[in-house]
Order: sequence, then C-alpha cells, then structure tokens
Amino acid sequence: MIAPLAPPMALLAELTHRCALKCPYCSNPLELERRSAELDTPTWLRVVDEAAALGVLQISFSGGEPMLRPDLPILVARAAERGLYTNLITSGVGFAPEALQRVAEAGLDHVQLSVQGVEDAAADHVSGLRGSAAQKRRLAAEIARLGLRLTLNAVVHRGNVAQIPALVRLAEDWGAARVEIAHVQYYGWAVENRGRLMPTRAQVETATADLAAERARTAGRLVIDAVLPDYYASYPKPCMGGWGAQNINVTPSGRVLPCHAAETIPHLVFDNVRDRPLAEIWRESATFNAYRGTDWMREPCRSCERRERDFGGCRCQALLFAGDAAATDPACRLSPLHDVLLAVAERDSASEAGVYAYRGYARS
Ligand code: SF4
Ligand code: FES
Repeated sequence: MIAPLAPPMALLAELTHRCALKCPYCSNPLELERRSAELDTPTWLRVVDEAAALGVLQISFSGGEPMLRPDLPILVARAAERGLYTNLITSGVGFAPEALQRVAEAGLDHVQLSVQGVEDAAADHVSGLRGSAAQKRRLAAEIARLGLRLTLNAVVHRGNVAQIPALVRLAEDWGAARVEIAHVQYYGWAVENRGRLMPTRAQVETATADLAAERARTAGRLVIDAVLPDYYASYPKPCMGGWGAQNINVTPSGRVLPCHAAETIPHLVFDNVRDRPLAEIWRESATFNAYRGTDWMREPCRSCERRERDFGGCRCQALLFAGDAAATDPACRLSPLHDVLLAVAERDSASEAGVYAYRGYARS
C-alpha cells in the first residue's frame, strides 16, 4: 500500500537574490535572478496562504538578503496570522539594524544570522565586503535588544574550520540558543571555489573533536548542530530529509524546487507559483515525484538497508559526479565513484588555488 503523501514541514521563501555580500560558497545559483523577475507582494502573500493551507509548519524568509524586500513585515505578519512559525535567514548586512524592529513586531519568531568567521578582516575577505563583520555585530545586538530567538549560522571551510571553539563562544556571547556549524556544501558557487574551500582530512578530524568538546562544555545551554563535508564520509547525508519529503523552496521568481540546487539537474522542469497552486505542485509535479520515496532507486541503493535512512544521499551531488541524478551519491562507500570523490577532496584540499570566484551577477 502506498502511504499518503505528508505535507512539507518547511517552506524556504527566497524573496530575492540581491545581497550586499559575495560569499564564494553561496547556495544561490550561478545565474542569479534579477530584481525585475521577483514575485510581487500579492503573489508572495498567496504563496504564504497556500503553504499554510497545505500544512507547512515553518516558513523561512531567505535570499539573498530578505531584509532588502520592503514588504518583509507584511509577509511575516501574514505567515504569523496563518499560524506558521516564522524564521528570518539574514546576512545582517546592507540594512539598518533598526529595520528589524518592524519585522519583529510583525510576529517574527526566530532569526538565523550568518557569520564568516571570528576575525573581522578574514571574515570580511570571505564575504567580499569590508565592514561586514562589524555590521553583523550591530545586528546581533539589535536581535538581543528585541528579545528574538537567535541561531548563529557559522559556515566553515578550510580557511576557518579551526575556529569552531571560537565560533561557539561567539554564539554564546551573542545570546544564541543554537549554533549551526555548517560546512560549505559543494554545489554551484562552492564547486567553483572548491580548491580554496575544501578542508584536509586532518582538519575534519580536528573539527569533529572540537565539536564534541564544545558540545560537552555547553551541554544544556546551547544546541550545536553540525554538518561536516561528506567527501570524507562513508555514507551520504539524507539530503533535504529525502527529495520531496519535507521541504519546498520557492525562488525569487516563483519557481518551486525540491532543494536549492535542483536547477542544476538539466532534465527537470520547474513549476511556478504564478501558474499552479503550491499544493498541486507538491503532490503532482513530475519534478517533485522524480526522486520521491525509493521506487526510482537503482542498485546498490535499491536493496540497501539504509535506503529509507539516507534516501540514496544527494541527487545534485550524484549528478555532479555521475552525470546522472538517479545514481548513488558518491559520498557512499558503495558507489563506484566513491574513490573519485575522495581523490577530488584530497586534490582540492591540497590546492593552492588563488583568489575566490565571488558570487555576483556578472554571469547573467
Ligand atoms: Fe545510502 Fe544507497 Fe549507499 Fe545504501 S547504497 S548507504 S541507500 S547511498
Ligand atoms: Fe539537491 Fe541534495 S542539494 S538533493
């Protein structure tokens, strides 16, 4: 018997790709969407309504920098009115910290603030904007003043992975309840910069020990979530909690994706909220059904006992290495490409590649 399809738990509303920062590992696509293509306020309000009706529990307003959308308080207010848990994912840069008050008053539940490191000059170098670290500090102070719940998003890579204990202390200093130590995920911009970002195996081992020590030190006070690079792992991560299982992403222009990198899979066609209701897209679209569940799997995933735990890993990483999104994620030791993935990690972690390819509109 086929189990009834559960609604998505979370919707990521990418309100804009505009952002003052140029992080070389940005999860936005290489071809950024321009302001003229962005959904208007009534359409986003309809998306919020449709998400709530579909059964979504949490909406994250993201980007780019979502604070650059003047209608953010209106969207947050509508989401709160519809009973959704509201989360703001912000760079903390490119707007006055006081602007957050209106968003908070609209009913914002939670903020995720990203940092590039604990030393200003190095963090500014990664973000591509001088003064960005100082701006983030000012926003952190405003978040504390407003009494908003805070998660610090610390993106780590070869250049700052040794700072994990210091990043955890920064989260404590800023009054965060949670810190997410997320290693760069290698899609899009991060693939372009893999030779500058990939840590060595020794660095990952040290990071794992640092995380254990920090978890023990802060137990009961701070939640530490961590994602380390799966290039050195034996098994893949259950990417997105399974394709079309828990998450739905809407891009600035309204395309609906099962994950942020799904547009790298060339044969998929993405529906748009301008043309089709969200519930219909979730349930019926060929794209959401393409890798849902386990029926699409081939060997070795098809008969593997872990298939409902990791769902064969990440479709976008499978595409990147195998040229086939239905292949086993090469992060799995059972994939015929596992050694290739490892060799790439070892090569790139030893690379002396020069300057970052910063995120930007130049390609469009
Ligand atoms: Fe996961 Fe497939 Fe590897 Fe099994 S064979 S562990 S299901 S990726
Ligand atoms: Fe697309 Fe993992 S990022 S499935």
